[in-house]
Amino acid sequence: MKDIRPGTVYIIGAGPGDPELLTIRGQHILEHADLVVYADSLVNPELLAYCQSGAEVVTSSDRDLQDIVGVMTKGAQSGKVVARLHSGDPAIYGAMAEQIQALRAQEVPFEIVPGVSAVFAAAAVIERELTVPGESQTVILTRVQGRASQVPASASLESLARHQATVAIFLSAALGHKVSRELQAAGHSPDALVCIVYRATWEDQQIVWSTVARLAEDLRTAGIHRQALILVGPAITHDGLQRSRLYDEAFGHLFRRPKGPKP
Ligand SMILES: C[S@@+](CC[C@H](N)C(=O)[O-])C[C@H]1O[C@@H](n2cnc3c(N)ncnc32)[C@H](O)[C@@H]1O
Repeated sequence: MKDIRPGTVYIIGAGPGDPELLTIRGQHILEHADLVVYADSLVNPELLAYCQSGAEVVTSSDRDLQDIVGVMTKGAQSGKVVARLHSGDPAIYGAMAEQIQALRAQEVPFEIVPGVSAVFAAAAVIERELTVPGESQTVILTRVQGRASQVPASASLESLARHQATVAIFLSAALGHKVSRELQAAGHSPDALVCIVYRATWEDQQIVWSTVARLAEDLRTAGIHRQALILVGPAITHDGLQRSRLYDEAFGHLFRRPKGPKP
């Protein structure tokens, strides 16, 4: 087991919801943490069962970033093992950049422990490969512009969705009309299938198959306006029946010689 150092902030990806999807490194750190700061709106509280009985637990949904960094910095500077639990992977829509910038400025040591992002949990629960040969070899993780977020015009959903790649749209379940409009402006057929995955891997998970045109209505009917991913693209629509050349008998690579007629 790698060291767990007092006076350090560990920024941990807590995974999409199912507590068994935490990494072993994440679990070890939680077992040793003196202070745990966790995003209670999206992180499963069952993960706190890994913490030692005396650990202090602080929620982050009711605090601003400055406040959160202040709590973590104070904890680390007093010699505590600090665990900051983020939903999914902290590198995706986790405001991690601002936190590590502030920790660096205070010379607080930190380590980032990756987690299972919602995009991979969603692919697992709908049983789709996101990169199917001949369908899509590219995955775009994006969102539409919301009230608080700034999405550069050059990276709007309308411009990205033109590539016909697999597109995973975060943080946009309340903006179904906008998603639908931008997908159609990018050339997606109104009848093209779209998958909505609400709270992937949680007990109340929902999978709703919709279409580009019906997206907003289906989100409303299902009562989904947050904690959902919207997946679009040919690899989502089809179920990946075209075989990858990697496993083709005739295709050899470093670890396997191709089968073929004997010379
Ligand atoms: C603040 S972002 C955090 C993303 C997270 N860092 C990740 O890697 O999955 C929150 C958004 O992620 C998506 N999300 C997070 N957990 C989810 C889950 N279990 N199922 C579906 N979408 C989820 C939703 O789009 C939600 O609005």
